[in-house]
Amino acid sequence: MRNGFGHNARMSLKLNSKLPHVGTTIFTVMSALAAAHGAINLSQGFPDYDGPSALKERVKHYLDTGFNQYPPMAGVLSLREAIATKVLRCYGAKVSPETEVTVTPGATEAIYCAVTAVCRPGDEVILFDPAYDSYEPAVTLAGGRPIRLALTPPAYRIDWQRVADTITSRTRMIMVNSPHNPTGTMLDAEDLRELERLAERHNLVVCSDEVYEHLVFDGVRHESVLRYPALAARSFAVSSFGKTYHVTGWKTGYCVAPPALTQELRRVHQFVTFVGITPIQLGLADFMQAHPEHLDELPQFYQRKRDLFNAALKHSRFVLKPSQGTFFQLAEYSAISDLPDRAFVEWLTKERGVAAIPMSVFYEHPPASRYVRFCFCKEDSTLEKAALRLAAL
Ligand SMILES: Cc1ncc(COP(=O)(O)O)c(C=O)c1O
Repeated sequence: MRNGFGHNARMSLKLNSKLPHVGTTIFTVMSALAAAHGAINLSQGFPDYDGPSALKERVKHYLDTGFNQYPPMAGVLSLREAIATKVLRCYGAKVSPETEVTVTPGATEAIYCAVTAVCRPGDEVILFDPAYDSYEPAVTLAGGRPIRLALTPPAYRIDWQRVADTITSRTRMIMVNSPHNPTGTMLDAEDLRELERLAERHNLVVCSDEVYEHLVFDGVRHESVLRYPALAARSFAVSSFGKTYHVTGWKTGYCVAPPALTQELRRVHQFVTFVGITPIQLGLADFMQAHPEHLDELPQFYQRKRDLFNAALKHSRFVLKPSQGTFFQLAEYSAISDLPDRAFVEWLTKERGVAAIPMSVFYEHPPASRYVRFCFCKEDSTLEKAALRLAAL
């Protein structure tokens, strides 16, 4: 059978791929290259430190005391209540844990379900390059048309007039991300008002990726769509516990949306993953309740790391504009190399022992600039060691 009909039939199966341009994500590629060459990995966005011990204790408690079966489809109620409490405290928005909060296995699943729930074949979805890599495939799989508007360096601001000019009768959704991966820029109150105005005027749905909502610096406040009632009334606001509690491998996030949108999101969610992991949800609920101060401490925790990394590179030949939010720092390298960014990060990883992400991967049509993204959610010693190598270039 191995070399017979079954084998040949398997080998000759031809499929017309629904995502022909999608390969392995750059984050996996760079992490593997870093591991193969023993390089310091400042590419993929995950901490090299652990989440809070008290949080892990609570998860272990539930693992050990029989909370290992399916949770409710929308997430355990205590966690949805903790999310609603947090949303009220942070953004002054009163949301119902029953009808407006859904716990998902990662922000990625929430984004996928949000797009799938509202986007029909032929619908246009506006997104901004550089864009997180899950957005476009989600739109494409739903049969939609991603309309990618490029933000240009060094400011990477959204030109709302251009957005207005891009909207057609087919436009269904706008996807935004603030604080922004990979640029570290943030939308301000004026941006949110423009977004609200356009979304209302053209009856659009907004998918707002706010996974870095608590990683904001220099006293700047995060402008969640949840602060703007008319905008919140037509938005999916998505967040990730992975970023907030240093546990990216737990893949747990959530979506806050008005009842009509939540109902549609859940219709998809229940057939994509149905639920997230029970003991993790229960542990997160307890920890959020017992330690609300964790959220208040995050800006300072990450700002110190950003500043340490920036200071250590001050006299390097990289040009840095300190990040406003996220745990990413863009660096312009044209004084160091003429290589295109993909070739540059490969050389940097193999020859100089520091892995980074090339900026061009976040674009449909990359601009002719030379930027790479470094991740600073690392131990101080890791950042110092990497910066020494980078400053020597
Ligand atoms: C902008 C952005 N959105 C979504 C995600 C995915 O979050 P999660 O791991 O919770 O699915 C990430 C993770 O890197 C991200 O950077």
